[in-house]
Formats: sequence, structure tokens, C-alpha cells
Amino acid sequence: MMRWFAAAVMAASLAFAAGGAVLAQSSPAEREPEEPTVFPDGENRDEVFYTCTACHGSDLVRAQGHSRERWAEVLSIMVEKHNMAPLEGEDLKRTLDYLAKAFPPKGRGYTNPFLNRTTAN
Ligand code: HEC
Repeated sequence: MMRWFAAAVMAASLAFAAGGAVLAQSSPAEREPEEPTVFPDGENRDEVFYTCTACHGSDLVRAQGHSRERWAEVLSIMVEKHNMAPLEGEDLKRTLDYLAKAFPPKGRGYTNPFLNRTTAN
């Protein structure tokens, strides 16, 4: 009786461990390291790349396109919701300069999945 139980527990925990390994493989920590060149060329590219990819892949940033004002909102969300260290002064200016230039609004009708709003122009 005990043996059956032990075997069942063993099988279950092996299955769990295997599932865990599969999950771990697709987690962000296991991703290939990225280089700043995944971002479009531009002044301050490397600084912005390292600031933003400290927490997540560049794909989250690259998927978006915003005006400078909207990028400023995104940064506020990073600070308020995700504990990003607030950017100030020149750092903030340089980051917004780069983001607005490298990732401009994607055009009329583009619905930003993050801000859940459709771009008007
Ligand atoms: C302190 C950590 C941290 C830093 C630094 C950070 N972010 Fe984020 N960001 C997050 C987290 C957490 C999410 C949510 C990730 C998810 O949903 O998988 C996120 C999501 C995003 C998203 C996508 C949101 C969506 O749902 O589509 C964008 C865009 C974004 N970040 C932009 C930036 C930019 C630009 C920078 C650099 C200026 C930056 N982030 C730096 C933590 C951070």
C-alpha cells in the first residue's frame, strides 16, 4: 500500500519537474542575450537599450510606437507599476528623445495594446 503511494508521489513529482523545466526554458531569464543593435540606430541608443532591457526583452519596446508625450506616459507606468527607477533631467530627456525618434507613432488607427487607445493621427 505504502509502496503504491510512494510510487504515485514520485511519478507526480517527476511530471511536475519536467513541466517546470519546459516552463523555465521559455521564461525571459532563459532568452538569448540581446545586443543594443536590435534597436534602430540613433543618439543614446545604447543607454536606452540597457535601461529598458534590464527588466524585459527589447520586443516589448519595439512593438510600440508613440509620440514623445505617450512615451513619457509609458515611462510613468514603468515607474508606478513596475518599480523602474524614475528617470530625471538629462537622462529623461535623452531617453524620450531616442524613443520618440526610433519608435514614432505607427499611424492612424493603430491600437496600442498596452495603453488600449487608438492613435488619432
Ligand atoms: C524595473 C523594471 C523595468 C524597467 C527598467 C523597464 N520596464 Fe518596461 N516593463 C516592465 C514590466 C514588469 C513590464 C510588463 C512585462 C510583461 O507584461 O511581460 C513592462 C512592460 C513594458 C512595455 C509593454 C507593455 C505591454 O503590455 O505591451 C513597454 C512598452 C515597456 N515596458 C517599455 C519600457 C521602456 C521604454 C523602458 C526603458 C525606458 C522600460 N520599459 C524599462 C518593467 C520594466
